[in-house]
This record gives sequence, structure tokens and C-alpha cells, in this order.
Amino acid sequence: MSLTEKHRPSFASQIPSRLGSCLSWLFVAMLILMPAELMAQDKTNPKTEAVKPADDKHPLAELFSGYKYLSEDVRAIQDSDIANPGMAWYTLGEQLWNKPGGTQKKACADCHNEAKASMRGVAARYPVYDRLGKKMVNMEQRINQCREKFMKAEPLAAESDELVGLSIYVRGKSRGIPVKPRIEGPARESFDKGAAYFNQRRGQMNLSCANCHDQSFGKKVRATVLSQGQSNGFPVYSLEQEKPVILHRRFIMCNNLVRANPRPIGDETYVNLELYLAWRGEGLQIETPAVRY
Ligand code: HEC
Ligand code: HEC
Repeated sequence: MSLTEKHRPSFASQIPSRLGSCLSWLFVAMLILMPAELMAQDKTNPKTEAVKPADDKHPLAELFSGYKYLSEDVRAIQDSDIANPGMAWYTLGEQLWNKPGGTQKKACADCHNEAKASMRGVAARYPVYDRLGKKMVNMEQRINQCREKFMKAEPLAAESDELVGLSIYVRGKSRGIPVKPRIEGPARESFDKGAAYFNQRRGQMNLSCANCHDQSFGKKVRATVLSQGQSNGFPVYSLEQEKPVILHRRFIMCNNLVRANPRPIGDETYVNLELYLAWRGEGLQIETPAVRY
């Protein structure tokens, strides 16, 4: 037997490597054939990952962004700033940020400079207790305070393109930052009231927010899958309504679903609810402007 013959690998010794390449082809084929549903659970997409609540008294074992309950095509719209129609309001907000207004002829940018730096992380703390006004304020109310107090300008109407645009712009500067509101100190009373409202049954259907969003998320209600009712993507862009939906409008829609009396936008009860939802979603990343059906 020559040396070369001896070192030529026998068929048997090639089996493991043939099997290996077979398996790797199988793996590639599986990836290609894997249903979109499974691919969507990919750990590399942080928006679908479960977040463990920081507090052990939390009503939910795991937190999920509303993004998790969207179809692949709607996720794709949210994921692309070019395709996401909510970005038109972001752009409007950016223009307004730099536009002088009011009797002071001041722009937001005159005092706050680059929003990228000055507004980064701000939305993750909202709503907050305003020491001067001695009450909780949400982002839209805060923006209007600046207009009235510092710009000597008229407050913007609740669902006007201008206020929604500024809100999306400022909140958008916290994208990717985990929600972390302050619920202690002067915010405590508001938090407790928000929690009570969330858990109280109401309306002709006698259902609480918790009945749907703590106990039934993941289940189908007519054509939609119930989410956990998280607030981290707000204001969201609604494909069905072809416009942004602010969080208080969503509260009104949910009150109407159970035939309960809704509150007006900006109402204290809704700001309390907003604080409770922020705590309940603590650790989820801000996704404003998220996209919904
Ligand atoms: C004349 C200066 C001035 C202008 C103009 C101004 N702001 Fe402010 N803004 C302030 C000051 C000062 C504070 C913080 C002090 C306070 O709490 O009142 C503040 C606070 C804020 C906050 C809260 C920040 C936080 O950390 O909680 C937001 C959001 C904000 N402004 C947005 C805006 C927007 C949007 C505009 C334009 C529509 C604007 N501001 C215009 C001076 C201004
Ligand atoms: C009858 C069931 C039901 C009740 C009760 C209900 N909701 Fe909803 N809620 C829905 C449905 C359906 C949607 C739209 C699909 C989804 O995101 O779950 C929704 C969506 C939401 C969203 C938007 C989530 C997202 O990611 O876009 C929030 C926030 C929310 N609800 C909060 C509340 C609050 C707060 C209450 C109590 C005042 C409440 N809901 C009561 C059914 C309900």
C-alpha cells in the first residue's frame, strides 16, 4: 500500500462530514421555509422580546409591547421610517420645534437647542408631577405649558396636527429608551388612582381594563388580537383611521368598547391612568410613532 493510498480517506470516514453538510443544508432549508410567525419571535428583534417587570407585585409576569401582536407587514411599516406614515407628524414637529411663535417670538429650539440631546429620555419619565401647577402633567400638557408660560402663545388644541406633531417629535427622541416613570413622592396619589381606575369594572359590559389587558391578552376579539394595552408606542399611527391616535383617544375608544362613559382628553383621571400604564410597562422601549391597524 502506498503512502498516498493510505491517506486517501475511506468512504466510511467521510460519512460524518457528509452528514454535517447535509445537516447544514437542512438548517438553511428550514430557515427559508420557517413560517413568518416563528421568524418574528427571533431574539434579535428586541421589540418582540419579553421584559421582566422590575416589581414583584406587578400584575403581569412578562411585558410585551403592542408590536408583538402585529402582523409581519404592519411591523415592517413601523420599522421603516420611510414607510411609517407617522413620521410625517414627526417632521411637522421638527419644523415647529424651530419655528418662532407667540408674542416672545421664541422657538422651542431657542431654549432647548437640539432636541436630540435636550429631549433624549424625557418621554420615558412622563407623566410627571409639576411642582408649580401642583398636578400631574403629560407630554402634550407640558408642551402647551411651555407655549403659554415661555412663548406667550396660545395652547395648541388637543388633537391638532401641531400638538400631535410636537408630541411625536419629542417622544420620538426617546425611541429605544426604556420607560421608567417616577411613582413615589407627589406622584403616588395619582399612581394609586390610576391603578384603581384600571382595575375597576365599568360600562354596560362591566369589564375593567385589567379584564382585557391583564387577563386576556393574546386572545382574539373579533378580528384583532388583544395586546397588553401598553403605552410605549404612543402617539401611534392608525392605518385604519389614516391619522395618529393619542393615548387619551385610545382610552376613549376602550371606554366606548365596554359602553362606559369616556372622559375628555387631558382629564386628570386619564393622566393618572397614563402614569399607571407607564409603570405597568416599565422597561419596555419607547417606539413612538408605532403603527397600528
Ligand atoms: C423661553 C424658553 C422656552 C421655550 C421657548 C420653550 N421651553 Fe420648554 N422648557 C423651558 C424650561 C425653562 C423648562 C424647564 C423648567 C420647567 O419645568 O418649567 C422647559 C421644559 C420643557 C419640557 C419638559 C422637560 C423635562 O425634562 O421634563 C418639555 C418637553 C419642553 N419644555 C418642550 C418644549 C417645546 C416642545 C417647546 C416649543 C413648543 C418649548 N418647550 C419651548 C423653557 C422653554
Ligand atoms: C373589551 C376589552 C377591552 C377593555 C375592557 C379595554 N380595552 Fe384597551 N384595547 C382593546 C382592544 C381590542 C384594543 C386594540 C388591540 C390591542 O392593542 O389590544 C385595545 C388597545 C388598547 C391600547 C393600545 C395598545 C397598543 O399597543 O396599541 C391601550 C393603551 C389600551 N387598550 C388601554 C386600555 C385601558 C387603559 C383600558 C381601561 C380604561 C382598556 N384598554 C380597556 C380592548 C379593551
